[in-house]
Amino acid sequence: MTARKIIIDTDPGQDDAFAILLALASPAELDVLGITAVAGNVPLEFTQRNTRIICELAGKPDVKVYAGCDRPLTRKLVTAEHVHGKTGLDGPVMIEPTMPLQTQHAVDFIIETLRSEPAKSVTLCPLGPLTNIAMAFEKAPDIVARVQEIVLMGGGYFEQGNITPAAEFNIYVDPQAADIVFKSGVPLVVMPLDVTHRALTTPERVNAFRDIGTKVGETCAAWADFFERFDIEKYGSAGAPLHDPCVIAYLLNPALFKGRLINVMIETQSELTMGATVADWWGVSGRQANALFMRDIDAAGFFDLLTQRLARL
Ligand code: BDR
Ligand code: CA
Repeated sequence: MTARKIIIDTDPGQDDAFAILLALASPAELDVLGITAVAGNVPLEFTQRNTRIICELAGKPDVKVYAGCDRPLTRKLVTAEHVHGKTGLDGPVMIEPTMPLQTQHAVDFIIETLRSEPAKSVTLCPLGPLTNIAMAFEKAPDIVARVQEIVLMGGGYFEQGNITPAAEFNIYVDPQAADIVFKSGVPLVVMPLDVTHRALTTPERVNAFRDIGTKVGETCAAWADFFERFDIEKYGSAGAPLHDPCVIAYLLNPALFKGRLINVMIETQSELTMGATVADWWGVSGRQANALFMRDIDAAGFFDLLTQRLARL
């Protein structure tokens, strides 16, 4: 089996870190061509730095990391330090990375890669606001038809929103970008809150990270301990949702997830519901399906996979 080529687009964020580690721990299945950082959970200066910290933690300082857009296409940047801390990776003390940041802009890297790799051989994995991806599609429309698939974390239908009553954070931060991506015609797989709110870091699961007995295991447990304080208080749940690694887990084992191929549109007009993912779950709109919108996860299988792979680093 040849490894599937992916570009991870990310705004770390502790849960983004789990996703990146899961991908880097799975070289037989996934060939990470590059990781592009975007402003989201925290400003770009932190997300590009955090991405490099995570690669170094994984023992993969050769991974190419690019900085992309430092703000959404048209709106003011909204960040989430209240969840992820000031640096985005608060919790354990992390050392400054020494691996380089690539000089090329992330958007240009995405364009160049999609043009140089065989058509439909590269999958995009956005874990943050969709600014870099939309910018690349706007700047180089020829690349859109060359994308194999986009597997992203964003949106919510049954769970609605987390940053507003109607919208999930990644889509809310840059709804114009999300609108471009959802209308692009590229096959989409969406991991919404409906799925990720079922992937909870219970004490038992966090202990399993810690019990790996490595720096990676300890760090992951410490990250989970940090960010779950916010979600446990907010939702009264047994742990925090581990959103972004659902994207990578889907690439490794799609059978862990269940959903429907439906039409999904993005609200870009109403301030009240800005960034809502209008998901036609019941097929009432007559609009063409554009996304495999997930609803269910085998959470035990997901955490087993994640823990086993983290133990490889
Ligand atoms: C998404 O927003 C961020 O806070 C997380 O990293 C995740 O990508 C969840 O709404
Ligand atoms: Ca994220």
